[in-house]
Amino acid sequence: MDRSPTEPDLFPILRQYSCLSPANKIYLPTDASILHNSLLLDYPPTAQYQRSFWKRIIAHLETNYDEDDEFELSSEIYDCYIEVLHESQSSYLTTTLLESRNVIEGGTTGLRTWTAAFYLAQYFLDNPDLILQKRILELGSGIGFMGIVMASLQMLSRASDDILPKLWLTDVDETVLSVCRRNIRLPCNLSSSHDGVETARVDWFDALDELAAPALKTLLCEQIDPELIVGSDIVFDPSLVHPLLSTLKLAIEGSNRTALFALTMRNETTFSDFLFSARGLGLHVTELSTTGTTSKHILTNDVVEDMSAVRLLKFSATL
Ligand SMILES: C[S@@+](CC[C@H](N)C(=O)[O-])C[C@H]1O[C@@H](n2cnc3c(N)ncnc32)[C@H](O)[C@@H]1O
Repeated sequence: MDRSPTEPDLFPILRQYSCLSPANKIYLPTDASILHNSLLLDYPPTAQYQRSFWKRIIAHLETNYDEDDEFELSSEIYDCYIEVLHESQSSYLTTTLLESRNVIEGGTTGLRTWTAAFYLAQYFLDNPDLILQKRILELGSGIGFMGIVMASLQMLSRASDDILPKLWLTDVDETVLSVCRRNIRLPCNLSSSHDGVETARVDWFDALDELAAPALKTLLCEQIDPELIVGSDIVFDPSLVHPLLSTLKLAIEGSNRTALFALTMRNETTFSDFLFSARGLGLHVTELSTTGTTSKHILTNDVVEDMSAVRLLKFSATL
């Protein structure tokens, strides 16, 4: 039945809808004609209101008409509901990742996202100035969660004429890097539109190798030339501490660059050895407090393993 939106029995609904009457108190329509009202097409209620309105309509119609009735709920109503559901969620930015469920797969820990990465991402969401319009180097990037968060924040804040800075995501493992590239470029991730994201293979052990160290220094300090260096959960094996810190030293010595590492403290001794070695190499280390953090944009403790073991460290060269 083709009904005009101005038909008298529809008018009370239009009036209630336009006045944003509580959804559980309104007289309910049985067709989709309200969707064609030109006034409401031009001046629709908020997505949140539309969502609760159509949710109520659908629930009502589905419970009050059974299959024997010659009544079919308009697919337009379902389509509208799905659309507003999508719109009302769009204040959240989602990130899709191809990743492993295993702690170690193919001999690497890099194919999944670790708790410290969520922690550092939260820190950047709370302190976006640290990364906006900054050239950034990530060490041990894994499959790109942090890269996607940083790229997305830079995309969201960019003015139309801004040239986006380079974001270098580095890792030793080629498989990890290729998954990282795929994740960054997934069309559903905002990072796919950031044209400054680069990936490179960097092995921290090169910093200890006389032959390889000069090329690593050139890559880090001249080609990448980061303003900020970041890393999450990259101190998990005592044998990596010295190579990692030596790489960091190559990248920041004689400069005013800083580094931020979020590290999960699994073992008190490894952690204090790490701090001791960093200071021994002439790096200035401070532990940052995140107690001022108020927002909870990222997955909370209910979803990922306990974040209370994560420490946030800031490094700079001792001048
Ligand atoms: C525990 S994962 C953390 C991955 C990611 N940052 C996160 O927080 O989800 C450690 C990462 O360090 C990388 N890695 C291990 N040894 C490395 C080395 N010698 N040079 C560079 N990266 C290394 C691994 O490939 C892996 O991606």
